[in-house]
Amino acid sequence: MSHRPDRRARRASASPLFTPHGADRAGRRKARRQLAEATAKARDRATAHPDGTVPVEEPLPAPLYGLAGRPGPASARGSRLKLPAHRMTTAIASGAYPFLAEGGLGADGIYIGRDVHAEAAFSFDPFTLYGRVEGFTNPNVLLAGVIGQGKSALAKSFALRSIAFGYRVYVPCDPKGEWTPVAAALGGTSIALGPGLPGRLNPLDAAPRPVSVPEEEWTGEIRKRRLLLLGSLARTVLGRDLAPMEHTALDVALDAVVSQAAATGRTPLLGDIATTLNNPGLLDIAGGAMSGRLGDAARDLAHAMRRLVHGDLAGMFDAPSTAVFNPDSPMLTIDLSRLGGSGDDTALVLAMTCASAWMESALTDPNGGRRWIVYDEAWRLMRHPGLLQRMQSQWKLSRGLGIANLMVIHRLSDLLTAGDAGSRGRALAEGLLADCSTRIIYRQENDQLQAAASLLGLTTVETQAIAHLNRGRGLWRVAGRSFIVQHLLHPHERTLFDTDARMH
Ligand SMILES: Nc1ncnc2c1ncn2[C@@H]1O[C@H](COP(=O)(O)OP(=O)(O)O)[C@@H](O)[C@H]1O
Ligand SMILES: [Mg+2]
Repeated sequence: MSHRPDRRARRASASPLFTPHGADRAGRRKARRQLAEATAKARDRATAHPDGTVPVEEPLPAPLYGLAGRPGPASARGSRLKLPAHRMTTAIASGAYPFLAEGGLGADGIYIGRDVHAEAAFSFDPFTLYGRVEGFTNPNVLLAGVIGQGKSALAKSFALRSIAFGYRVYVPCDPKGEWTPVAAALGGTSIALGPGLPGRLNPLDAAPRPVSVPEEEWTGEIRKRRLLLLGSLARTVLGRDLAPMEHTALDVALDAVVSQAAATGRTPLLGDIATTLNNPGLLDIAGGAMSGRLGDAARDLAHAMRRLVHGDLAGMFDAPSTAVFNPDSPMLTIDLSRLGGSGDDTALVLAMTCASAWMESALTDPNGGRRWIVYDEAWRLMRHPGLLQRMQSQWKLSRGLGIANLMVIHRLSDLLTAGDAGSRGRALAEGLLADCSTRIIYRQENDQLQAAASLLGLTTVETQAIAHLNRGRGLWRVAGRSFIVQHLLHPHERTLFDTDARMH
């Protein structure tokens, strides 16, 4: 038996460099040297800091458990336990030992980092998993975790790495302005809104009609969306549900404004709605025979709308849009960081809603390809059932359009603040949760563990694990399967995504 063919085969498979058989030794050596130089150069380029300084590679975080595995007497390690061999099918084994190590989701998709238990690379792409994995019924992702754990960094990695797959990324509300540098680095655009800034968005802009939808049906669809938006805004400002007559008044005012605007060739504005609601006579006439005293009933509504038009949001959402939606841009973000100063959360929340409505209405093209909509800091919206409802119906629409939503919240109990058990708000929040086949749980406070466990149906081991996660590490529940994944950042990403910079 000769060793030579064996060794040659090994060499061939281990060599990253192909040299033609005809090449002599000197030629092969030269080619090898060139390859080594090119590799070193590529590595230097990849890790070079934009400013020319060399970034410090953060050491890999320590594994969750030491080499010996889970500590404690129950770990049954150390060869002291002697049991007869036990045979079972893989189906039963996976049920009996559900949280040992997952097989992974395959290599398709965006590289996220390291699967801590399997010690393997972890990739994820909701679009490829959709329809392929049992129970993976939608591409939406919920991401929850306390502040500073790297939620936004993960969302930004999703965005940045998806661009390589040709996906587009939309961030309809960025209350901290932290997405703007990301968009700039990726060749996308950002629209900044705030007092004194020139940007205007009209949330009543009509979405462009997809070719496949008939004209008439589309008019109805736009009307429905505008009503839903107006209703949600009014309900949020008033802090209560609308009375039946108020619904009618909104209906009537919207129709009056739309037909008036169509006659003069303008787009309807929130201010027009407020004016109409504030004019009882006009409303009664527009309401026709069944109006009753529509004008009087609409008084609260008129004040609610006035807040949107005159209050701290004056002008921003009550004028023809200055920004045009460019469907070819790889990324579009709306920066609302200039709005935060007033200390009143409601204004920011209303602005987030108007901005999302504007952007979502621009995304109606079913041929627009695969898209992400990232709702960073979405926990602010959770307290308002009206806004939740709008969001949920938007999500229902997005599935048919090839859109994956990513919602970032702090705690799972944020979902519960939407209402008491059995209430409509709670049902909405639970529906939203059910609409996320992927849930990524970063570290939770100890008093939140119970809520998380019961909402997500976590095992005790999973619940313990989420109390001890460190930065960038999360429990991923993908259609009922569990992974603990360490998100790894490229040095470039680390500088681009750094939100601690202001703290240093
Ligand atoms: N996987 C990670 N590895 C190393 N640093 C990270 C990781 N994820 C986030 N960071 C850093 O932690 C800081 C806070 O992250 P951020 O995403 O803003 O947290 P959150 O959105 O959860 O409040 C950022 O400066 C970011 O660079
Ligand atoms: Mg964040």
